[in-house]
Amino acid sequence: MKDQLLTEAQKVLNENFQKGGFTIPSKNLYPFQWKWDSGFIAIGYAHYDMNKAESEISTLLDAQWDNGFIPHIIFHTDTDTYFPGADFHKSELHPMSSKKYRSTGLVQPPVLGFVLEKIYHISKDKTRSLEFIGRQIDKVFHNHQYFYQNRDPLNEGLVYIYHNWESGTDNSPVWDGIFETMDSPEYEFERRDTSHVDPEQRPTKREYDHYLHIIEIAKQYNYDDQKIAQHSPFLVQDPLFNAMLIKSNESLIRLYTLLGSNDDKIEKLEKWQKKAVFQMNNKLFDNELNAYIYYDLRNKKPIRSISSSSFTPLFAGIPSKEDARKLIDTLISNFGGDDHYLCASFDPTSEHFKPKKYWRGPVWINLNWILFKGLKRYGFEDIANRVKADSIELITQNGFYEYFDCRKDVISSGNGAYGGNNFSWSAALIIDMLNQ
Ligand code: GLC
Repeated sequence: MKDQLLTEAQKVLNENFQKGGFTIPSKNLYPFQWKWDSGFIAIGYAHYDMNKAESEISTLLDAQWDNGFIPHIIFHTDTDTYFPGADFHKSELHPMSSKKYRSTGLVQPPVLGFVLEKIYHISKDKTRSLEFIGRQIDKVFHNHQYFYQNRDPLNEGLVYIYHNWESGTDNSPVWDGIFETMDSPEYEFERRDTSHVDPEQRPTKREYDHYLHIIEIAKQYNYDDQKIAQHSPFLVQDPLFNAMLIKSNESLIRLYTLLGSNDDKIEKLEKWQKKAVFQMNNKLFDNELNAYIYYDLRNKKPIRSISSSSFTPLFAGIPSKEDARKLIDTLISNFGGDDHYLCASFDPTSEHFKPKKYWRGPVWINLNWILFKGLKRYGFEDIANRVKADSIELITQNGFYEYFDCRKDVISSGNGAYGGNNFSWSAALIIDMLNQ
């Protein structure tokens, strides 16, 4: 059983691997290299093909901009099967963007620090892996420096995202209130995603208008960070994004310690880390909801919604033991009913919960993996094992889909697997969970 699943997962990854040395998330739907996908994919490869794991990371970092920025999509090829593509994003507007690759002018959650550490732990040839890490780590450090220098205008230790696509959780109901403050034009464009996937499982046309509008504003300022901080209608401190950065800071500190003679960088990382952890608990932990929430910097108010991102600070060791206990109570009471698989992407007790629609409810394997690791870190073994078992069951029964219905009766009816099939991070992270 386990061996068969591992073989199938490897097949998914190998078939999505491209000549250029990187892996697409899913055929047709996502034909380029995505940043945080590549990080998760590299973890899967590390278990059976270290060349591919390293190549995944080095192709991504090869597209880094001179200011440390790592883009969310790298358009390695000229296909027009994806919208919005390179001609829409126009990364060349930024003076420090890559001269070698076109990309978006957006980022995605900073996973690379902890991915490098994970590769080191999985590796059977530590000398080789440490050499590889030695060649890449300064680029990841430079990326963290980019975030703290450019994405934290109030110098709080928490960085912002200026677009919902930067969060990785594209159409979460969390963003709805921000879109209501925007007066986006009605754009004319041809969507490509809805020719591959049932529109019922994807964002709406109106949501796409908002997504494009924010990018048009950023382009108007040539993707200048200071201008974006002044003018973007979307400016949010997101708990998942900041938790990934904090987790990656922690990994960089440990890796630099292993490599030796990098005291100045370790010192910087420790400074960022201390401030960031304090502010996560001080500003983003909501004592009534007992969960980490979001802060809308543009409209100067907290966004008091609970999503699967609300639990990701466990992975980075951010909450105290006492707050971790409270988080678990919230997880179990709102998301953990016996008729539900863990973990819905949005609070199933909310009126905005939509079980089929992308990030408005379905279960995503990457968030489950982060949750699994976080629960283990705090010693919540039983729930951690439930998250792992649920992930494996969803995949075994349905295949390596992009997202899944959290309702058990819908899954047993055979209609609960959504989005793209043969989805790379679903395969990669199942490989890692099976190897625990
Ligand atoms: C979707 C997801 C995003 C992911 C991308 C490629 O846009 O929301 O998180 O990186 O697809 O898989």
